[in-house]
Amino acid sequence: MKYRTPLGLLGRVSEAIKLSAIMILPSKNTPARVYELLNTHNNLAEESLYLNMGYWVDANTYDEACEALAIKLAESAELSEEDDVLDCSFGFADQDICWMRNFKPKSITGINVTPVQIKVGTERVAEAGYADKVKLMRGSAIDIPLADSSVTKVLALESAFHFHTREDFFQEAFRVLKPGGMLVTADIVSADVQKQSTVKGSVKGSAMRKFWQFPLENAYNSASYIERLNKWGFEEANIESIGKDVYGPFHAYARKRVNDPSVTLRLNPFIRKMWKESYNEDTHVDNVDYIIAKARKPNK
Ligand SMILES: C[S@@+](CC[C@H](N)C(=O)[O-])C[C@H]1O[C@@H](n2cnc3c(N)ncnc32)[C@H](O)[C@@H]1O
Repeated sequence: MKYRTPLGLLGRVSEAIKLSAIMILPSKNTPARVYELLNTHNNLAEESLYLNMGYWVDANTYDEACEALAIKLAESAELSEEDDVLDCSFGFADQDICWMRNFKPKSITGINVTPVQIKVGTERVAEAGYADKVKLMRGSAIDIPLADSSVTKVLALESAFHFHTREDFFQEAFRVLKPGGMLVTADIVSADVQKQSTVKGSVKGSAMRKFWQFPLENAYNSASYIERLNKWGFEEANIESIGKDVYGPFHAYARKRVNDPSVTLRLNPFIRKMWKESYNEDTHVDNVDYIIAKARKPNK
């Protein structure tokens, strides 16, 4: 399949060195380095190149679950033909193609920090015939390269937990939204009840946070999420918890998928190990929830 050629030995060694650097060296938030490594060959998807955990209520495959999550986000945002959308951030652009097919917004501007995703996403959007309506560019969600009051919807599909900080993103989203526009995220938050972690659990948790680029500043619960949206001027902020339809089924899928011979062939063995550690049997998800959050910029 296109984009899924396994790397040769040198490429694999170079990836292993880059992975070690991410895990060992102190660094500020650098999701682009992790996503460059995951590239198109080190992810778990089937035919698509989605990189989210999916919404599994009616899905049988990972691709279906990822698409269902993209659609759930768009429906929560009441996406329509009237909308000019800012997508922060688009992965390999599967979601933008999905939104164009299903909701036909006037335009989508996508920003992303990961060069390989911008390159491949742009190619795929053109192949799908949407190059005139979907513009993908380099840019960070905490410093959005758009004018004030220029879009009607800001969407962030499983990405705002990366932004350093998520609150800076709220502030920027508010700035670029037109009055009455909506911010909608599919995001990861802390659960209300914190479980006591073992020492082994804490060490593993901090290694996983480092690999998955989840800054501690973004670790707060849904109530605090709403307070922070309100603080930056949003109104009608509300949150739907969908964790039970995300984590359990995705983890079960990921555990099977990392052992599937068609995937192990293309995965770098060290990155496969990171996938395995993230989703093995003793990975606890009690400390997190998965949410759809939405909020509106006031009309005046
Ligand atoms: C878990 S992936 C989700 C990708 C895509 N939404 C999907 O569902 O397949 C997180 C995405 O956030 C992007 N990202 C991380 N930090 C960012 C930032 N500050 N600004 C824009 N994009 C960012 C990554 O490059 C990656 O595309």
